[in-house]
Amino acid sequence: MADTEYGAASAIPDPWTLPLETFDVSKAEIFQNDMQGEYFRRLRQEAPVHYCPESSVGAYWSVTKYHDIIAVDSNHKTFSSEPSIVIGDPSDNFQPPMFIAMDPPLHDIQRKVAQPAVAPTQLSELEDLIRQRVSTILDSLPVGEEFNWVDKVSIELTTQMLATLFDFPFEDRHKLPFWSDVATTSDAVGIVGTDMEWRMKHLNECVAYFTQLWRQRAAEPRKFDFISLLAHSDDTKHMVDNPIELLGNLMLLIVGGNDTTRNSISGGVYFLNKFPEEYDKLRADPSLIPNMVSEIIRYQTPLAHMRRVATEDTELGGQKIRKGDKVVMWYVSGNRDEEVIDDADTFRIDRANARRHLSFGFGIHRCMGNRVAEMQLRILWEEILRRFDRVEVTGEPTRVLSNFVLGYEKLPVILHPKA
Ligand code: HEM
Repeated sequence: MADTEYGAASAIPDPWTLPLETFDVSKAEIFQNDMQGEYFRRLRQEAPVHYCPESSVGAYWSVTKYHDIIAVDSNHKTFSSEPSIVIGDPSDNFQPPMFIAMDPPLHDIQRKVAQPAVAPTQLSELEDLIRQRVSTILDSLPVGEEFNWVDKVSIELTTQMLATLFDFPFEDRHKLPFWSDVATTSDAVGIVGTDMEWRMKHLNECVAYFTQLWRQRAAEPRKFDFISLLAHSDDTKHMVDNPIELLGNLMLLIVGGNDTTRNSISGGVYFLNKFPEEYDKLRADPSLIPNMVSEIIRYQTPLAHMRRVATEDTELGGQKIRKGDKVVMWYVSGNRDEEVIDDADTFRIDRANARRHLSFGFGIHRCMGNRVAEMQLRILWEEILRRFDRVEVTGEPTRVLSNFVLGYEKLPVILHPKA
């Protein structure tokens, strides 16, 4: 389905031999082969605010250091989130409006309506349900034989959590990750050759399904799931009559909660196997779980970047950025900035200030679901430690082709029960 320029890892040039002027970190194959580390290390060292004049996603600035990223992310007046937060613009120009890609005041109004679904009081109510679901999934896994952790745990668990946040019919829950995949398969994130007709067909199905659900919720008393909240607010109830706006916000809420948490679940297992002394530490002291969860989210950086557009001429890191320029904040690089994060390439579950990572962004768009994601990972690891001595990774993972979502398609594992 997808066509790639580089294909195999061996075809990806060594970043230290490339002239800086030709540096283009938008190529999805770099991330699929997990080769971004040295590209960004060179940018941080030699051109922390770097201009790429020509690429398949057009011209763009890369912001790669921790403090510069925070400076951009917390200045929404100079760096706008409109019309999109991914590096590329889709070739078919199909960009449904969603509040992550809006500036105030509309952004603030719509965010406020959806927020109660993931507020702390709501989460404490959901904790028991999530623990029950985690337990059911873990108890159904084959022990002692190889299986794909991504399918059986990461996708299943995230799907169940999303279904809960939407109060979505449980038996139809697998439609959610499918629609999320359809929404994120786009040339805007470096995937060339997507069948747009196929994509539109399924996105239309998604809108039709949610329209029906929305009308049901609107007729019932207000509850605290995303759809009910949006359907009952004067600020958002019009969305049901505007399928494109409805789709945009559904895509935001489905994709936002899907790929990100899913890939942190897989990443955690992978990292503990890559750093076995950390797995030993965890077994010896499960109270490290909450800190480890933050470290997993830093080390994985499930969303590699967010993009902004300069609304005025400005300066950043000594570079002159002009009004209209595209500015990409590479969280995946800022999270490995050695000047701020000690021994940044090491996964360390007892790291001090582990929550001080960039993976959730900063400022007015800071991830709305950050507490849900953390809670889900915490509960999962509490329940894993209760049941298994080790989740052993038995082969290298297969990674997703994208310059936006950093994640896994396959992660083979074998479970070893507790003695
Ligand atoms: C925004 C990452 C989980 C919903 C964001 C942003 C990032 C992010 C980087 C944009 C921040 C910015 O522009 O400054 C993550 C990561 C997650 C995660 C790494 C898991 C580890 C979730 C979950 C949900 C969610 C579980 C809920 C379903 C949202 C929403 C926004 C958002 C609605 C838009 C907020 C706004 O524009 O005001 N997330 N996210 N995310 N996230 Fe998450």
